[in-house]
Amino acid sequence: MNELNDQTHSAGKAAGPCVMVIFGATGDLTKRKLFPALYNLAKGNLLSRNFAIVCISRTEMSNEAFRDQLSKDMETFATSTVEQNLWGWFLERTYYTPANVTNTDCYRKLRDLLTQVDQTHGTGGNYFFYLATAPNLFGEIVRQLGASGLARGENGQWRRVIFEKPFGHDLESARALNAEIRQVLNETQIYRIDHYLGKETVQNILVFRFGNAIFEPIWNRRYIDHIQITAAETVGVEKRGGYYETSGALRDMVPNHLFQLVSLTAMEPPISFDANAVRDEQAKVLHAISPIPPEDVLSRAVRGQYGEGIVNDERVPSYRSEGQVAPNSTTETFVALKLMIDNWRWADVPFYLRTGKRMPNRVTEIAIQFKRAPLLLFRDTPVERLRTNRLVIHIQPDEGISLRFGAKIPGPIMRVGAVEMDFNYVDYFGSTPSTGYERLLYDCMIGDATLFQRADMVEAGWRVIEPILDVWQALPPRAFPNYPAGTWGPKEADELLERDGREWWKIEEQPND
Ligand code: BG6
Repeated sequence: MNELNDQTHSAGKAAGPCVMVIFGATGDLTKRKLFPALYNLAKGNLLSRNFAIVCISRTEMSNEAFRDQLSKDMETFATSTVEQNLWGWFLERTYYTPANVTNTDCYRKLRDLLTQVDQTHGTGGNYFFYLATAPNLFGEIVRQLGASGLARGENGQWRRVIFEKPFGHDLESARALNAEIRQVLNETQIYRIDHYLGKETVQNILVFRFGNAIFEPIWNRRYIDHIQITAAETVGVEKRGGYYETSGALRDMVPNHLFQLVSLTAMEPPISFDANAVRDEQAKVLHAISPIPPEDVLSRAVRGQYGEGIVNDERVPSYRSEGQVAPNSTTETFVALKLMIDNWRWADVPFYLRTGKRMPNRVTEIAIQFKRAPLLLFRDTPVERLRTNRLVIHIQPDEGISLRFGAKIPGPIMRVGAVEMDFNYVDYFGSTPSTGYERLLYDCMIGDATLFQRADMVEAGWRVIEPILDVWQALPPRAFPNYPAGTWGPKEADELLERDGREWWKIEEQPND
């Protein structure tokens, strides 16, 4: 197995022997993310030599045909150069088996295949199952894994299950799913994935906050005026209209991705990087978010849907004319929220969140807006207003951190300009080809659940969203579509901040504006 050893840039230790079983393997995720990520792990020497992949889906296809298709897909989706030797090694240990996952027969076939794979590849009976199927199959697959004996290893063998999002579609369904899968699995076997936690800059929030002494003392209500979190996309719903119609922007992005950003930004320092120590603090802060009272939902939770418009100089259709979308759909493609965290660190500091499709830029950022300095000192100067300090954590596409502060503009007259101090990941560390799934897959193989959501975190997220879902359902929007594609959402999103004497940070804004 020289192919793996020849690769040099491993930063960690290779995971132990195991098999990854992908349910729903002919879907987009496998070709776009999972295989490119596994390939990058192999390249970095982070996969065991005793590794194999078993792919399951309903489509009738031979092993050979599946492997050929994968090789073609890698030409499009690999994030690093595909070396033929290493890719050949991969294909040798990739198996495809057509089966209906609701059928007991599927699990009998899977057991036989896994026994054979263990013998051929020395994978030691350690398996992790990746559920990339429709979410309504999660419970059934876990039940069948239990009934077929695949969910329990013997003699130190481990079994783990990764759940793709969405995990439930409201609080009740999330609770029911948690209860159902816990009848078969221990919480330590359950890995609820949120791909935002695979992003380097998201992981860096903890290091930035707790690995430096200068930020933590001012990271609280005394110094911070408010926090803005934006996750804007230029894409529309693409080919996912069917799913999106049942989800909408709120369910799709907020209780999972945006709440990960909220919890990492707002949590107390954990006592270690142990999975439960970190997740205890995340869970605490999620529990401290006050649910919006029903009577305030319409003023504190703004929803929007894009009409036709122009994005990246191209005319794009309205949401209602996308595939699998109802012509009178009331599904929101934009949401902006004002949330309050009711604890000693954050009382009275609003967290404004917004996310939407068909926005002018693709950008995910956390902006920490500090309080304004007193103007008194400048009263006899031409300076009429001091700009505030703002720290922005750029998550994507640019990755880095910038800090805005005031500086004297050279000259005999006292004038203050806003200047920007920038740290850019690429400038310091170069760019590492990544899909964002590498770390998460690797962590599951080594049994580290720190970057996965625990049951209480998922439920805490839904608890906050629930009143919004209820009110929105009872009072359908009257004026959809209410923002043209290529704009920053409906005017109500601006009014949400204007009412508080604030405004969304203009993402396009230049440093000296
Ligand atoms: C997914 C959502 O979870 O995250 C998509 O279902 C969204 O609708 C995507 O486009 C955004 O992820 P990223 O990594 O591009 O910000």
